[in-house]
Amino acid sequence: MEFTDISRYLPVKSASILPFEKLRHMEPVWMTQDLKIVDEPKNIDYAKSLASKGIIVVPIRRRPLSSKYIDRKTFPRRILFEMTSRCNFHCTMCPQQNLKRPRMDMPGEDYRRVIDEIDKYGIEGLWLYHLGESLLHPEFRENVNHISKKKNLGIIWMSTNGQYFTEDNIRCVLDSNIDYINFSAHAVTEETYNKVASEGDFRIVQGNLEKLYELKGTDKLPRKPFIHCQMIEQETTKHEVDAFIQKHYKRADIVSINMLEYVNLPSNIFGLKQRERKPLTSCLRVSRSDCFICSNGAVTLCDAAYNGEIHLGSIHEQTLFEIWNGERRKKILELNEQDRMSEIEFCSKCTDYDI
Ligand SMILES: C[S@@+](CC[C@H](N)C(=O)[O-])C[C@H]1O[C@@H](n2cnc3c(N)ncnc32)[C@H](O)[C@@H]1O
Repeated sequence: MEFTDISRYLPVKSASILPFEKLRHMEPVWMTQDLKIVDEPKNIDYAKSLASKGIIVVPIRRRPLSSKYIDRKTFPRRILFEMTSRCNFHCTMCPQQNLKRPRMDMPGEDYRRVIDEIDKYGIEGLWLYHLGESLLHPEFRENVNHISKKKNLGIIWMSTNGQYFTEDNIRCVLDSNIDYINFSAHAVTEETYNKVASEGDFRIVQGNLEKLYELKGTDKLPRKPFIHCQMIEQETTKHEVDAFIQKHYKRADIVSINMLEYVNLPSNIFGLKQRERKPLTSCLRVSRSDCFICSNGAVTLCDAAYNGEIHLGSIHEQTLFEIWNGERRKKILELNEQDRMSEIEFCSKCTDYDI
């Protein structure tokens, strides 16, 4: 769930911050992907009513881009493109813990070749990671500079645990065409942080986040690249959610309190309590036409299949276009359209098909 400081848009008198327990049950204010309030009378009135009550931090939801690719089936609309599956952290809730495919970098020339293909077809959004810490890739900056020359990659996201988000890396990202920087800050106190990300150095990570705020500047927000400062609500961190919002809402463009995913992992049982789901018929990920390219070249359509359980092909053997139009995906699309996803054994055990 995402939050923003509504006083950037509307006057707020005698502001106060509601507790997360209240905020989470409120309707969101709809925003564009450029973080403008969606200009519809009901939405504007709602935002104004919150501001007039002094509610300064408000829940938001970003409306998907109205895109020319909405009905396109022959190429992915959104791509998570992993530079590396290596990570310097093994956070307690992360599938890194359970990664069975090789921990490796995708060679820079392959990464950039596939970026060229993606740019040729155009997409709605590109994530420069999947599992793994992209800043560990020896050609991270070359890859980012290459991406910055492209025009058809949609909204571009990076994500980092912050440990190596040094001044040089921050400057490279601030000078790029990356739209969103997801900063996985995890917690407010060192004690809680260490329960989630014990390999991380809390002080270094916090120092790098402060540097990012300083170098980007905290005036005239929202402003690109948007800083999306994030923690995940879980058993070990939930007591710090309010302090997290308080700490970051003035300087981050968005503060995000994320729900646990991958709740089939033993460490994530807490996530099962957070939501109810209907039995599996069709899958949101398949319907959204999401694509995941792993650092070993394997292409899949589901992030839960991070160990190659649903393998569509490899970018070392075929073009992405060929893979996306191959028989394996066709079969899955058919099952999805016929509400028969539970016939795929891996999917029948999935816990995340509805998010
Ligand atoms: C897998 S990490 C990879 C990128 C980078 N290493 C990072 O830490 O931001 C991407 C995001 O997934 C989040 N994440 C990891 N495990 C998760 C889980 N079980 N549920 C929801 N998000 C999770 C992380 O907190 C991070 O923000």
